[in-house]
Formats: sequence, structure tokens, C-alpha cells
Amino acid sequence: MSLESPAAELSLDAAAERAAILHKQLHHHAWRYYSLDDPEIPDAEYDRLFAELQQIEAQHPSLLSEDSPTQRVGAAPLEAFDQVQHSIPMLSLNNAFADADIEAFDKRVREGLELPETESVAYFVEPKLDGLAVSLRYENGVLVQAATRGDGQTGENITTNVKTIPSVPLRLQGSGWPAVLEVRGEVYMPLEGFDAFNKAAAAKGEKTLVNPRNGAAGSLRQLDSRITASRPLAIYCYSVGEASDGPIASSHSASLERLADWGLRICPLGKAVTGANGLLDYYQFLGNERSRLDYDIDGVVYKVDRFDQQRELGFVARAPRWAIAHKFPAQEELTELLDVEFQVGRTGALTPVARLKPVFVGGVTVSNATLHNMDEVVRKDIHIGDTVIVRRAGDVIPEVARSVVERRPADAKPVELPSHCPVCESHVERVEGEAVARCTGGLVCAAQRKEALKHFASRKALDIDGLGDKLVEQMVDDGLVKSPADLFALELAQVASLERMAEKSGQNLLNALQAAKTTTLPRFLFALGIREVGEATAAALANHYGDLGSVMAADQESLQTVPDVGPVVAKHIAEFFAEPRNQTVVDALLAQGINWPAIEKRAPEEQPLSGKTYVITGTLESMSRSDAKAALQALGAKVAGSVSKKTDGLVAGEAAGSKLTKAEELGVPVLDEAWLMAQIS
Ligand code: IVH
Repeated sequence: MSLESPAAELSLDAAAERAAILHKQLHHHAWRYYSLDDPEIPDAEYDRLFAELQQIEAQHPSLLSEDSPTQRVGAAPLEAFDQVQHSIPMLSLNNAFADADIEAFDKRVREGLELPETESVAYFVEPKLDGLAVSLRYENGVLVQAATRGDGQTGENITTNVKTIPSVPLRLQGSGWPAVLEVRGEVYMPLEGFDAFNKAAAAKGEKTLVNPRNGAAGSLRQLDSRITASRPLAIYCYSVGEASDGPIASSHSASLERLADWGLRICPLGKAVTGANGLLDYYQFLGNERSRLDYDIDGVVYKVDRFDQQRELGFVARAPRWAIAHKFPAQEELTELLDVEFQVGRTGALTPVARLKPVFVGGVTVSNATLHNMDEVVRKDIHIGDTVIVRRAGDVIPEVARSVVERRPADAKPVELPSHCPVCESHVERVEGEAVARCTGGLVCAAQRKEALKHFASRKALDIDGLGDKLVEQMVDDGLVKSPADLFALELAQVASLERMAEKSGQNLLNALQAAKTTTLPRFLFALGIREVGEATAAALANHYGDLGSVMAADQESLQTVPDVGPVVAKHIAEFFAEPRNQTVVDALLAQGINWPAIEKRAPEEQPLSGKTYVITGTLESMSRSDAKAALQALGAKVAGSVSKKTDGLVAGEAAGSKLTKAEELGVPVLDEAWLMAQIS
């Protein structure tokens, strides 16, 4: 692994030796990436190897050979498709990573154009889309050919496949296009489509796509275009290749406007800016925007806008002097998987957690990452000792994307699910057909006990002021508390002797415990931590049965008549109350004086929202959509899946999409989360 920075200047012999290694590696990885759409290493690692070779070649020009990977763009086309000669080569861009590289770029441009100090360069800046570059050839306004970039000179004929992409016009609109117009752009897979595709593939046990970029590339290179047609793909066009009557405009920005007029899709985020500051400001702006976009971008492309200036600057080797790609920090990096440990959650679920050699990725140092469950470990083929790809996109929790199987050391060990709980040594059970393995220890297990107590004390449960996670952990570790009822039997001396506690804080905690004894039935039911019983389901249960005894006595069939309680949740509830240990916990709590006001049971027609129908869309801040649904149903409302004229209101969270548009069109009232919370309370 070459995670280190490129070496300082080497002797000619050493440099030749290193260059030969880099040639081999880069050829191999370019083939995996461009020809197979199945890279072994993250892009950042490829870029580093590439930069290292460029540096060696700059220091020792005698080592620069015709067949050096730095002299090529992409890789040789696959045999399966017909070849297409690009009449104008499809070139690549030089990469920059630091602000200083951008200042140097602007300086080179200014010097190349011999501009006076006082004049700044007019640039056009746009996202660097992370997909596959394609060329679209229109003759007399009709799409006649589509090709991949291939090695820049020769690409693959993928016309049939590209014609399946809805945003690629088969015929140009408007007028004024030249007889031959070759447009270039990036085909990409929108993130929403990528996620949906992978979810469906995983559910069917089929191979998932490594990332949206490889998804786009792989989809375009299917031999059966029906497969391409079934994949969610889109295009943004960003330049013109051949144009039979010469340039279609005098600047890049003006040419994009013409392309848009002819019906070609142009990224709306492109912008005209001036000078190095303009470039860097845009980089900042887009970096902030990045996690909100519906497509992957891996940087920003800066282009000198005026074509006469572009011509004056010209090209070097594989890239123009008038453009540069300013890359974002990598979202994927390589590191070593040191170990896999298992964490035990509140319901006993064992979660494998990767312990990693710390690595800087997506702007933070990552040393742990969840592996979710054993199915994931198997699917990603993860062994301890492997080199793994760690991914952190936006604010998303870092994850191990996959293993680099090709680099597996001989002594790598498979990850094994422990047969016994790492915390309490109870037997671990894996239910047929379920991805999750569980410790069977229940409240005997200190880990589950801690999590159960934290949940019991949490804000939406009994809301015990001052009883934080650290305190719960100490109480369990010291053996002071085994079950929730023990909390209410604590004495001042016991509490005051805990770390960071004293007489006064101890008394405050006892007061808080006393105050928490008076609660509500929904809170109490939620606090018990029954699997899959969230706040809203707890409220629905309380409302439906009216008292605790009736909930405890309900059988699975009856439970399924409660709004939003399906067979699985009904089973969890019935099994929970059938378990003698849980009955004991409930009895002990009641004996400690936990109480709540009686619930006034209302007939369905008297419920506040009875007869009303709502639709929920977007992301809600305080609860999941399914909890919101259960809460509305508990108030007597119906919750539908789509908006119609009969809908009484659309509850719209963040990033609401087509349902919101529909509601606005139909004049259906749009309600926000505050409205929902007001109904619940
Ligand atoms: S312009 C000579 N603009 O980046 C300039 N390329 O490394 C040709 N890319 O092959 C490219 N977004 O696949 C350009 N807005 C953009 C781009 C872009 C992504 C890709 C494209 C190209 C590669 C160059």
C-alpha cells in the first residue's frame, strides 16, 4: 500500500525501478477501472500512484516512455463493442488538490495569455461529474452514434445503450445546429436510483453496484441494452467535439447555452467567475452543496471561458492548459482492518464493528466503522487483516465499503460470529432468515441491561433528569442496578458514592427519580423497550386498550387490530409480556409506585382526527414516517400513500418531492411537523 506521500528525488536507477512498478500497477488498475468497471482500489489511491509517476517522470525525463500510463487517457476498449475513432481526441484533465495548485494554474493561464496584472481571467466553472464520459454524434439533428471515451482516440460504440437514457435527445430541438454536431458529456447514475437499485439487488441476493460511477459505467457497457434501459441513468453535457461549421459560439458558456436550446441537458450549477478567488469561492460553495446533490461529484472543473484564449493556451500531452480539475478530499480511502469486535445492543443484537488503522477520509479520521451484521460481512467478503476501502460521504456514518480481496495477506482470518455473548457469555442465537444475531441473556446481560436502562431513562421514555449514559454504565458495572425498578430503590449514600457525584447531585438524582414516577401510559410502554415499539406504537397501544393490564393480556390477533401494528410487531409485544422475567420487571416498577393518569378511552368516531385522511412525505426531524403514521392513526385519522383531491392534508418534512408538488396542484393543505406535534400532544 502506498499510503505515504511520494518520495523525495530518487537516483536514476531507483527511479527507473520505481517507475517500472508504477507502470505495472497503473496499467493494471486502469484496466480494472476502465475496461472492467470494477476497480480494486479507491480513486484517491490511483491518483496518488499516478502523481508519483508524473513526479518521477518530471525529475527524470529520460524515463518518460510512449507507453507510460501518464501518456494515456483511459484504457483500451473492450473487444465486445465495435470501435469508434474519435475525430477529435477526447482528452483528460490535470488534477489539482490544494489551493496553491489553483493559484499556480491561474498564474500559468495569465502568463500564457500575457495578460496585464490588472486583468483577471474569465472562467466558467462546473461540477466534476463522477460518471462515464460519452460522445454523442448528431447528424442533421439526429443521434447517429454514441461512444465511450476509451483511450481518448478510440472508444466503444454504445449507441443502442445510450439511446435508452431518457435525458439523451434522439433528435435535436430548435434550429441552427450544424450538420454534424458531436457533443460530450457525462452519463451518471442519480443517487436515489443507485440506492434503490442496490436495495432491490441485495433483497434478491444479487450483486450490488460498488458505487454510482461504476454503476453508470457498467450499465452503459451491457451487451443487452434492455439491461441498460432498466438502470436509472442520466446525462449532463459539458462540451462540443466535432462541429461541421466550426465552433458553435465564441465561448464555452455561450456554447452550453446553445446546447441547452437544442434540448441537451446542461448541469444548472455551472457559473461564470473571474480570477483565482472566483475559482476558490466556487470550490467552497460546491463543497458545501455536495452532500445535498442527487449525484456524485468528485471535484470542480475550471475552464477558461473564451475559445480564442483556449486556443492560445493549447494542450500538453493528455490535457488542456486551459482547464483543470480541482478534486475534493477523497470519500474513499484504503486502510487495514485490525480486528472485528461485537457490540451488544439493547435488544441483544450483536453488531460487528470494524477496528481500523486510523485513516483520514471524507474530512475526518476514522478508526471504527460499523459492519451492520454478519450478512454484510459475508457479502463484502471481509477478513481480519484485509486491506479495506473505508467510505465516508457527507455527514454519513463511515462504513467499510468492501475488502480489497486481491491484497489479502496469507494470515487473514475470516470473521466469526461468536457462539457466546462477549459481555455475559449467554448463548448467541441467529434466527433463520434474519440477518441479526442476538445474545439470549436478556437483562442478565450487562450490555443489554445498560442499553435498556439508558432507553428507560431517555427523554421520550421516563425522562429521568440527570441520569446520563455514563452514570447508567457505572451503576450496572458496580452492581447497583440490575433492572429498571432498582433505580427507584437507590439510596442517597449509594448514588453519592458514584464517580463525579456528591451529596447534592445525588439528592437531585433521587428527586428526579421521584418525579419520573408519575408518567403516562404511552411513555411507560415505550420505556419498556419492546422490540419495534416506538413512541407512536406505544401511544396507539395505550389509546386502543386504555390500561396496562389489557395491553399485557392482549393476544397477537387482538394486537393486530391496533392501528399500524402488523404481525411482526404484534408478535414482539405478545412475546415480551409472555416472558416471566418481563412480568417481574413490570410488577416491580408498579410496586415502586410508577403511576399515570387513567386514559379516557374514546370511541373511534369521537377521536380528534376521525374521518380525516392524511399523506406523509419527506424526512421528519423528530420521528420516522412510520411512527408519524401510527400517531395519526392513533388519533383516528387514515393515512394514505398518495395525494388525491380527497386528502385532508399533506404532512411534509424535509426534501419533500413529487407529493408536495401534487398537493400544491390540487390545493391540498400542506402541514408541517409542528402541526403534527401539536396534534400528538
Ligand atoms: S471537460 C478537455 N467537464 O472528467 C476537457 N470533464 O478527467 C475534457 N468530467 O473525461 C473534459 N465532469 O469524464 C469536463 N464538467 C466537466 C466534467 C468532466 C466530469 C470528466 C470527464 C472527463 C474527465 C477528465
